[in-house]
Amino acid sequence: MRPQTLAPRTLRKIRASSGIDNQPRLGDSSQTLQRNPPRSLPTNRHRSEAASTIGLALPDPTDPITNPAARTPAKVVGIVGEPESPGSPGSSNAGNEGSRGGSNFDTVLGKLVVERGLMSNEELDQCNSEQKTRSAGSAPVTLAEMLVEREFLTKRQVERLRGDIEAVKTSQQIPGFRIIRKLGAGAMATVFLAKQVSLDRLVAIKVLPKKFSANQNFIERFVREGRAAAKLSHNNIVAAYEIGQSGEHHFFVMEYVDGDTVYDRIVARKRVPEREALEIIRQVASALQHAHEMGFVHRDIKPKNIMMTTGNVAKLADLGLARAMSDKEAAEAESGRAYGTPYYISPEQIRGSVNIGPPADIYGLGATFYHMVTGKLPFEGTTPSQVMHRHLKDPLVPPDHVNPKVSAGTALIIETMMKKDARDRYQNARDLVTDLELVIAGKDPEHAKPAVDIATITSAINTAAQEPVAIVRKESTTSFASLPAILIMGALAVGNLVLLVIVLLR
Ligand SMILES: Nc1ncnc2c1ncn2[C@@H]1O[C@H](COP(=O)(O)OP(=O)(O)OP(=O)(O)O)[C@@H](O)[C@H]1O
Ligand SMILES: [Mg+2]
Repeated sequence: MRPQTLAPRTLRKIRASSGIDNQPRLGDSSQTLQRNPPRSLPTNRHRSEAASTIGLALPDPTDPITNPAARTPAKVVGIVGEPESPGSPGSSNAGNEGSRGGSNFDTVLGKLVVERGLMSNEELDQCNSEQKTRSAGSAPVTLAEMLVEREFLTKRQVERLRGDIEAVKTSQQIPGFRIIRKLGAGAMATVFLAKQVSLDRLVAIKVLPKKFSANQNFIERFVREGRAAAKLSHNNIVAAYEIGQSGEHHFFVMEYVDGDTVYDRIVARKRVPEREALEIIRQVASALQHAHEMGFVHRDIKPKNIMMTTGNVAKLADLGLARAMSDKEAAEAESGRAYGTPYYISPEQIRGSVNIGPPADIYGLGATFYHMVTGKLPFEGTTPSQVMHRHLKDPLVPPDHVNPKVSAGTALIIETMMKKDARDRYQNARDLVTDLELVIAGKDPEHAKPAVDIATITSAINTAAQEPVAIVRKESTTSFASLPAILIMGALAVGNLVLLVIVLLR
């Protein structure tokens, strides 16, 4: 994993707008930002860049340009939990013809940049006519190349747009579903709101990038995990409906959650009130209990993967998908690009242990809980490796030290969830649920371990040894422990004085 190398000005903008931490966010939609803004741009272009910092609007699904009439049916790999469906022969690729490069892409790209206010119609016309002139000559150039050359877009923005346009086209070719709008995008995929025509219900469709198609292992695991995920049935888990393939894109159809994510709540309110956080974590812990009992480990528990319905029901997302995507092949397919965040990762996952079990999810949920009630990440750093190193080595600053309003019971639960050694954590989500329910009822947790462990003691000793002298002095002068000694010394001095006077008088 590598850190995002966004321009400092851009980073400041994200930090200021997110208010969530001071670190570059890894693998989120901030990747759409322009990395190297041109030094001197016309004022109107500055304005439009600022307006487009977060996310990108997608072409209108009803637009004939972005929604070609000639559609090819997608190949449905399988309805999750059902025997494999054969799919439609010869259906895999044609839908994407012409979407990359060439005039089709240029036309859609031109439309998008104007729509997003990145350039005016006149500027686009100028670029188009110059592109035609140059292409007629000996040095042909595409519109995309021209926009980069003229600093209207960066190469990275062009690539990002290309991915978004392809994802929209692909998702519009999934038979049985009508795409309504884009819901969001993560580091690896784009998610759309769609209507499942047959059942007349809203669903969310996650479209994975092409690059995963090249890896047979990944696809096999994606299908296997998708089917297994469909066996899970819990009110706090986003239900998996279907997995399939459209052109070169794999997709995953799931329950649509009409609400926000825990991440959104932290961003909006800096921290989540303890009571609300306890209730959310209890629901997710109960989802984990079910998943673990069915033999599943999520391995990517984080605020963005906990969705909240408008009725405040927590829904754990990406079960099954997370496992398929977080493996080595996926990381290799993403080579050179940051994937996910290491802010919530367990020490055993960092070490690459083979046996990743329920305690890894409990650690991730603990880190999420910590972030929710303190408003701070448990471990920060300027690079992913620094953050991961801290997960491995640094003692956790107790959550009630960061936010003194956090109750002792909650603090103890979080510290137990985040023990560095998996054996010291809750061994199963059932015990965690019990403790959460106890604390919610105003009682002490039963299974949580005392907050002080060897790592904490060692770090306390080291910290004391490094404490500034001035503080030590200040403490010693205010210490009442030395009062008896002072009194004895005083008495001895007075006694000596009396003896001296007696001797002299004689
Ligand atoms: N089932 C769903 N219902 C409604 N919206 C969803 C659903 N799943 C995902 N989303 C939206 O799509 C966005 C992208 O989701 P995705 O899982 O691709 O990435 P992420 O979890 O946000 O981040 P990362 O790529 O770092 O894992 C989410 O932030 C959420 O807003
Ligand atoms: Mg997700």
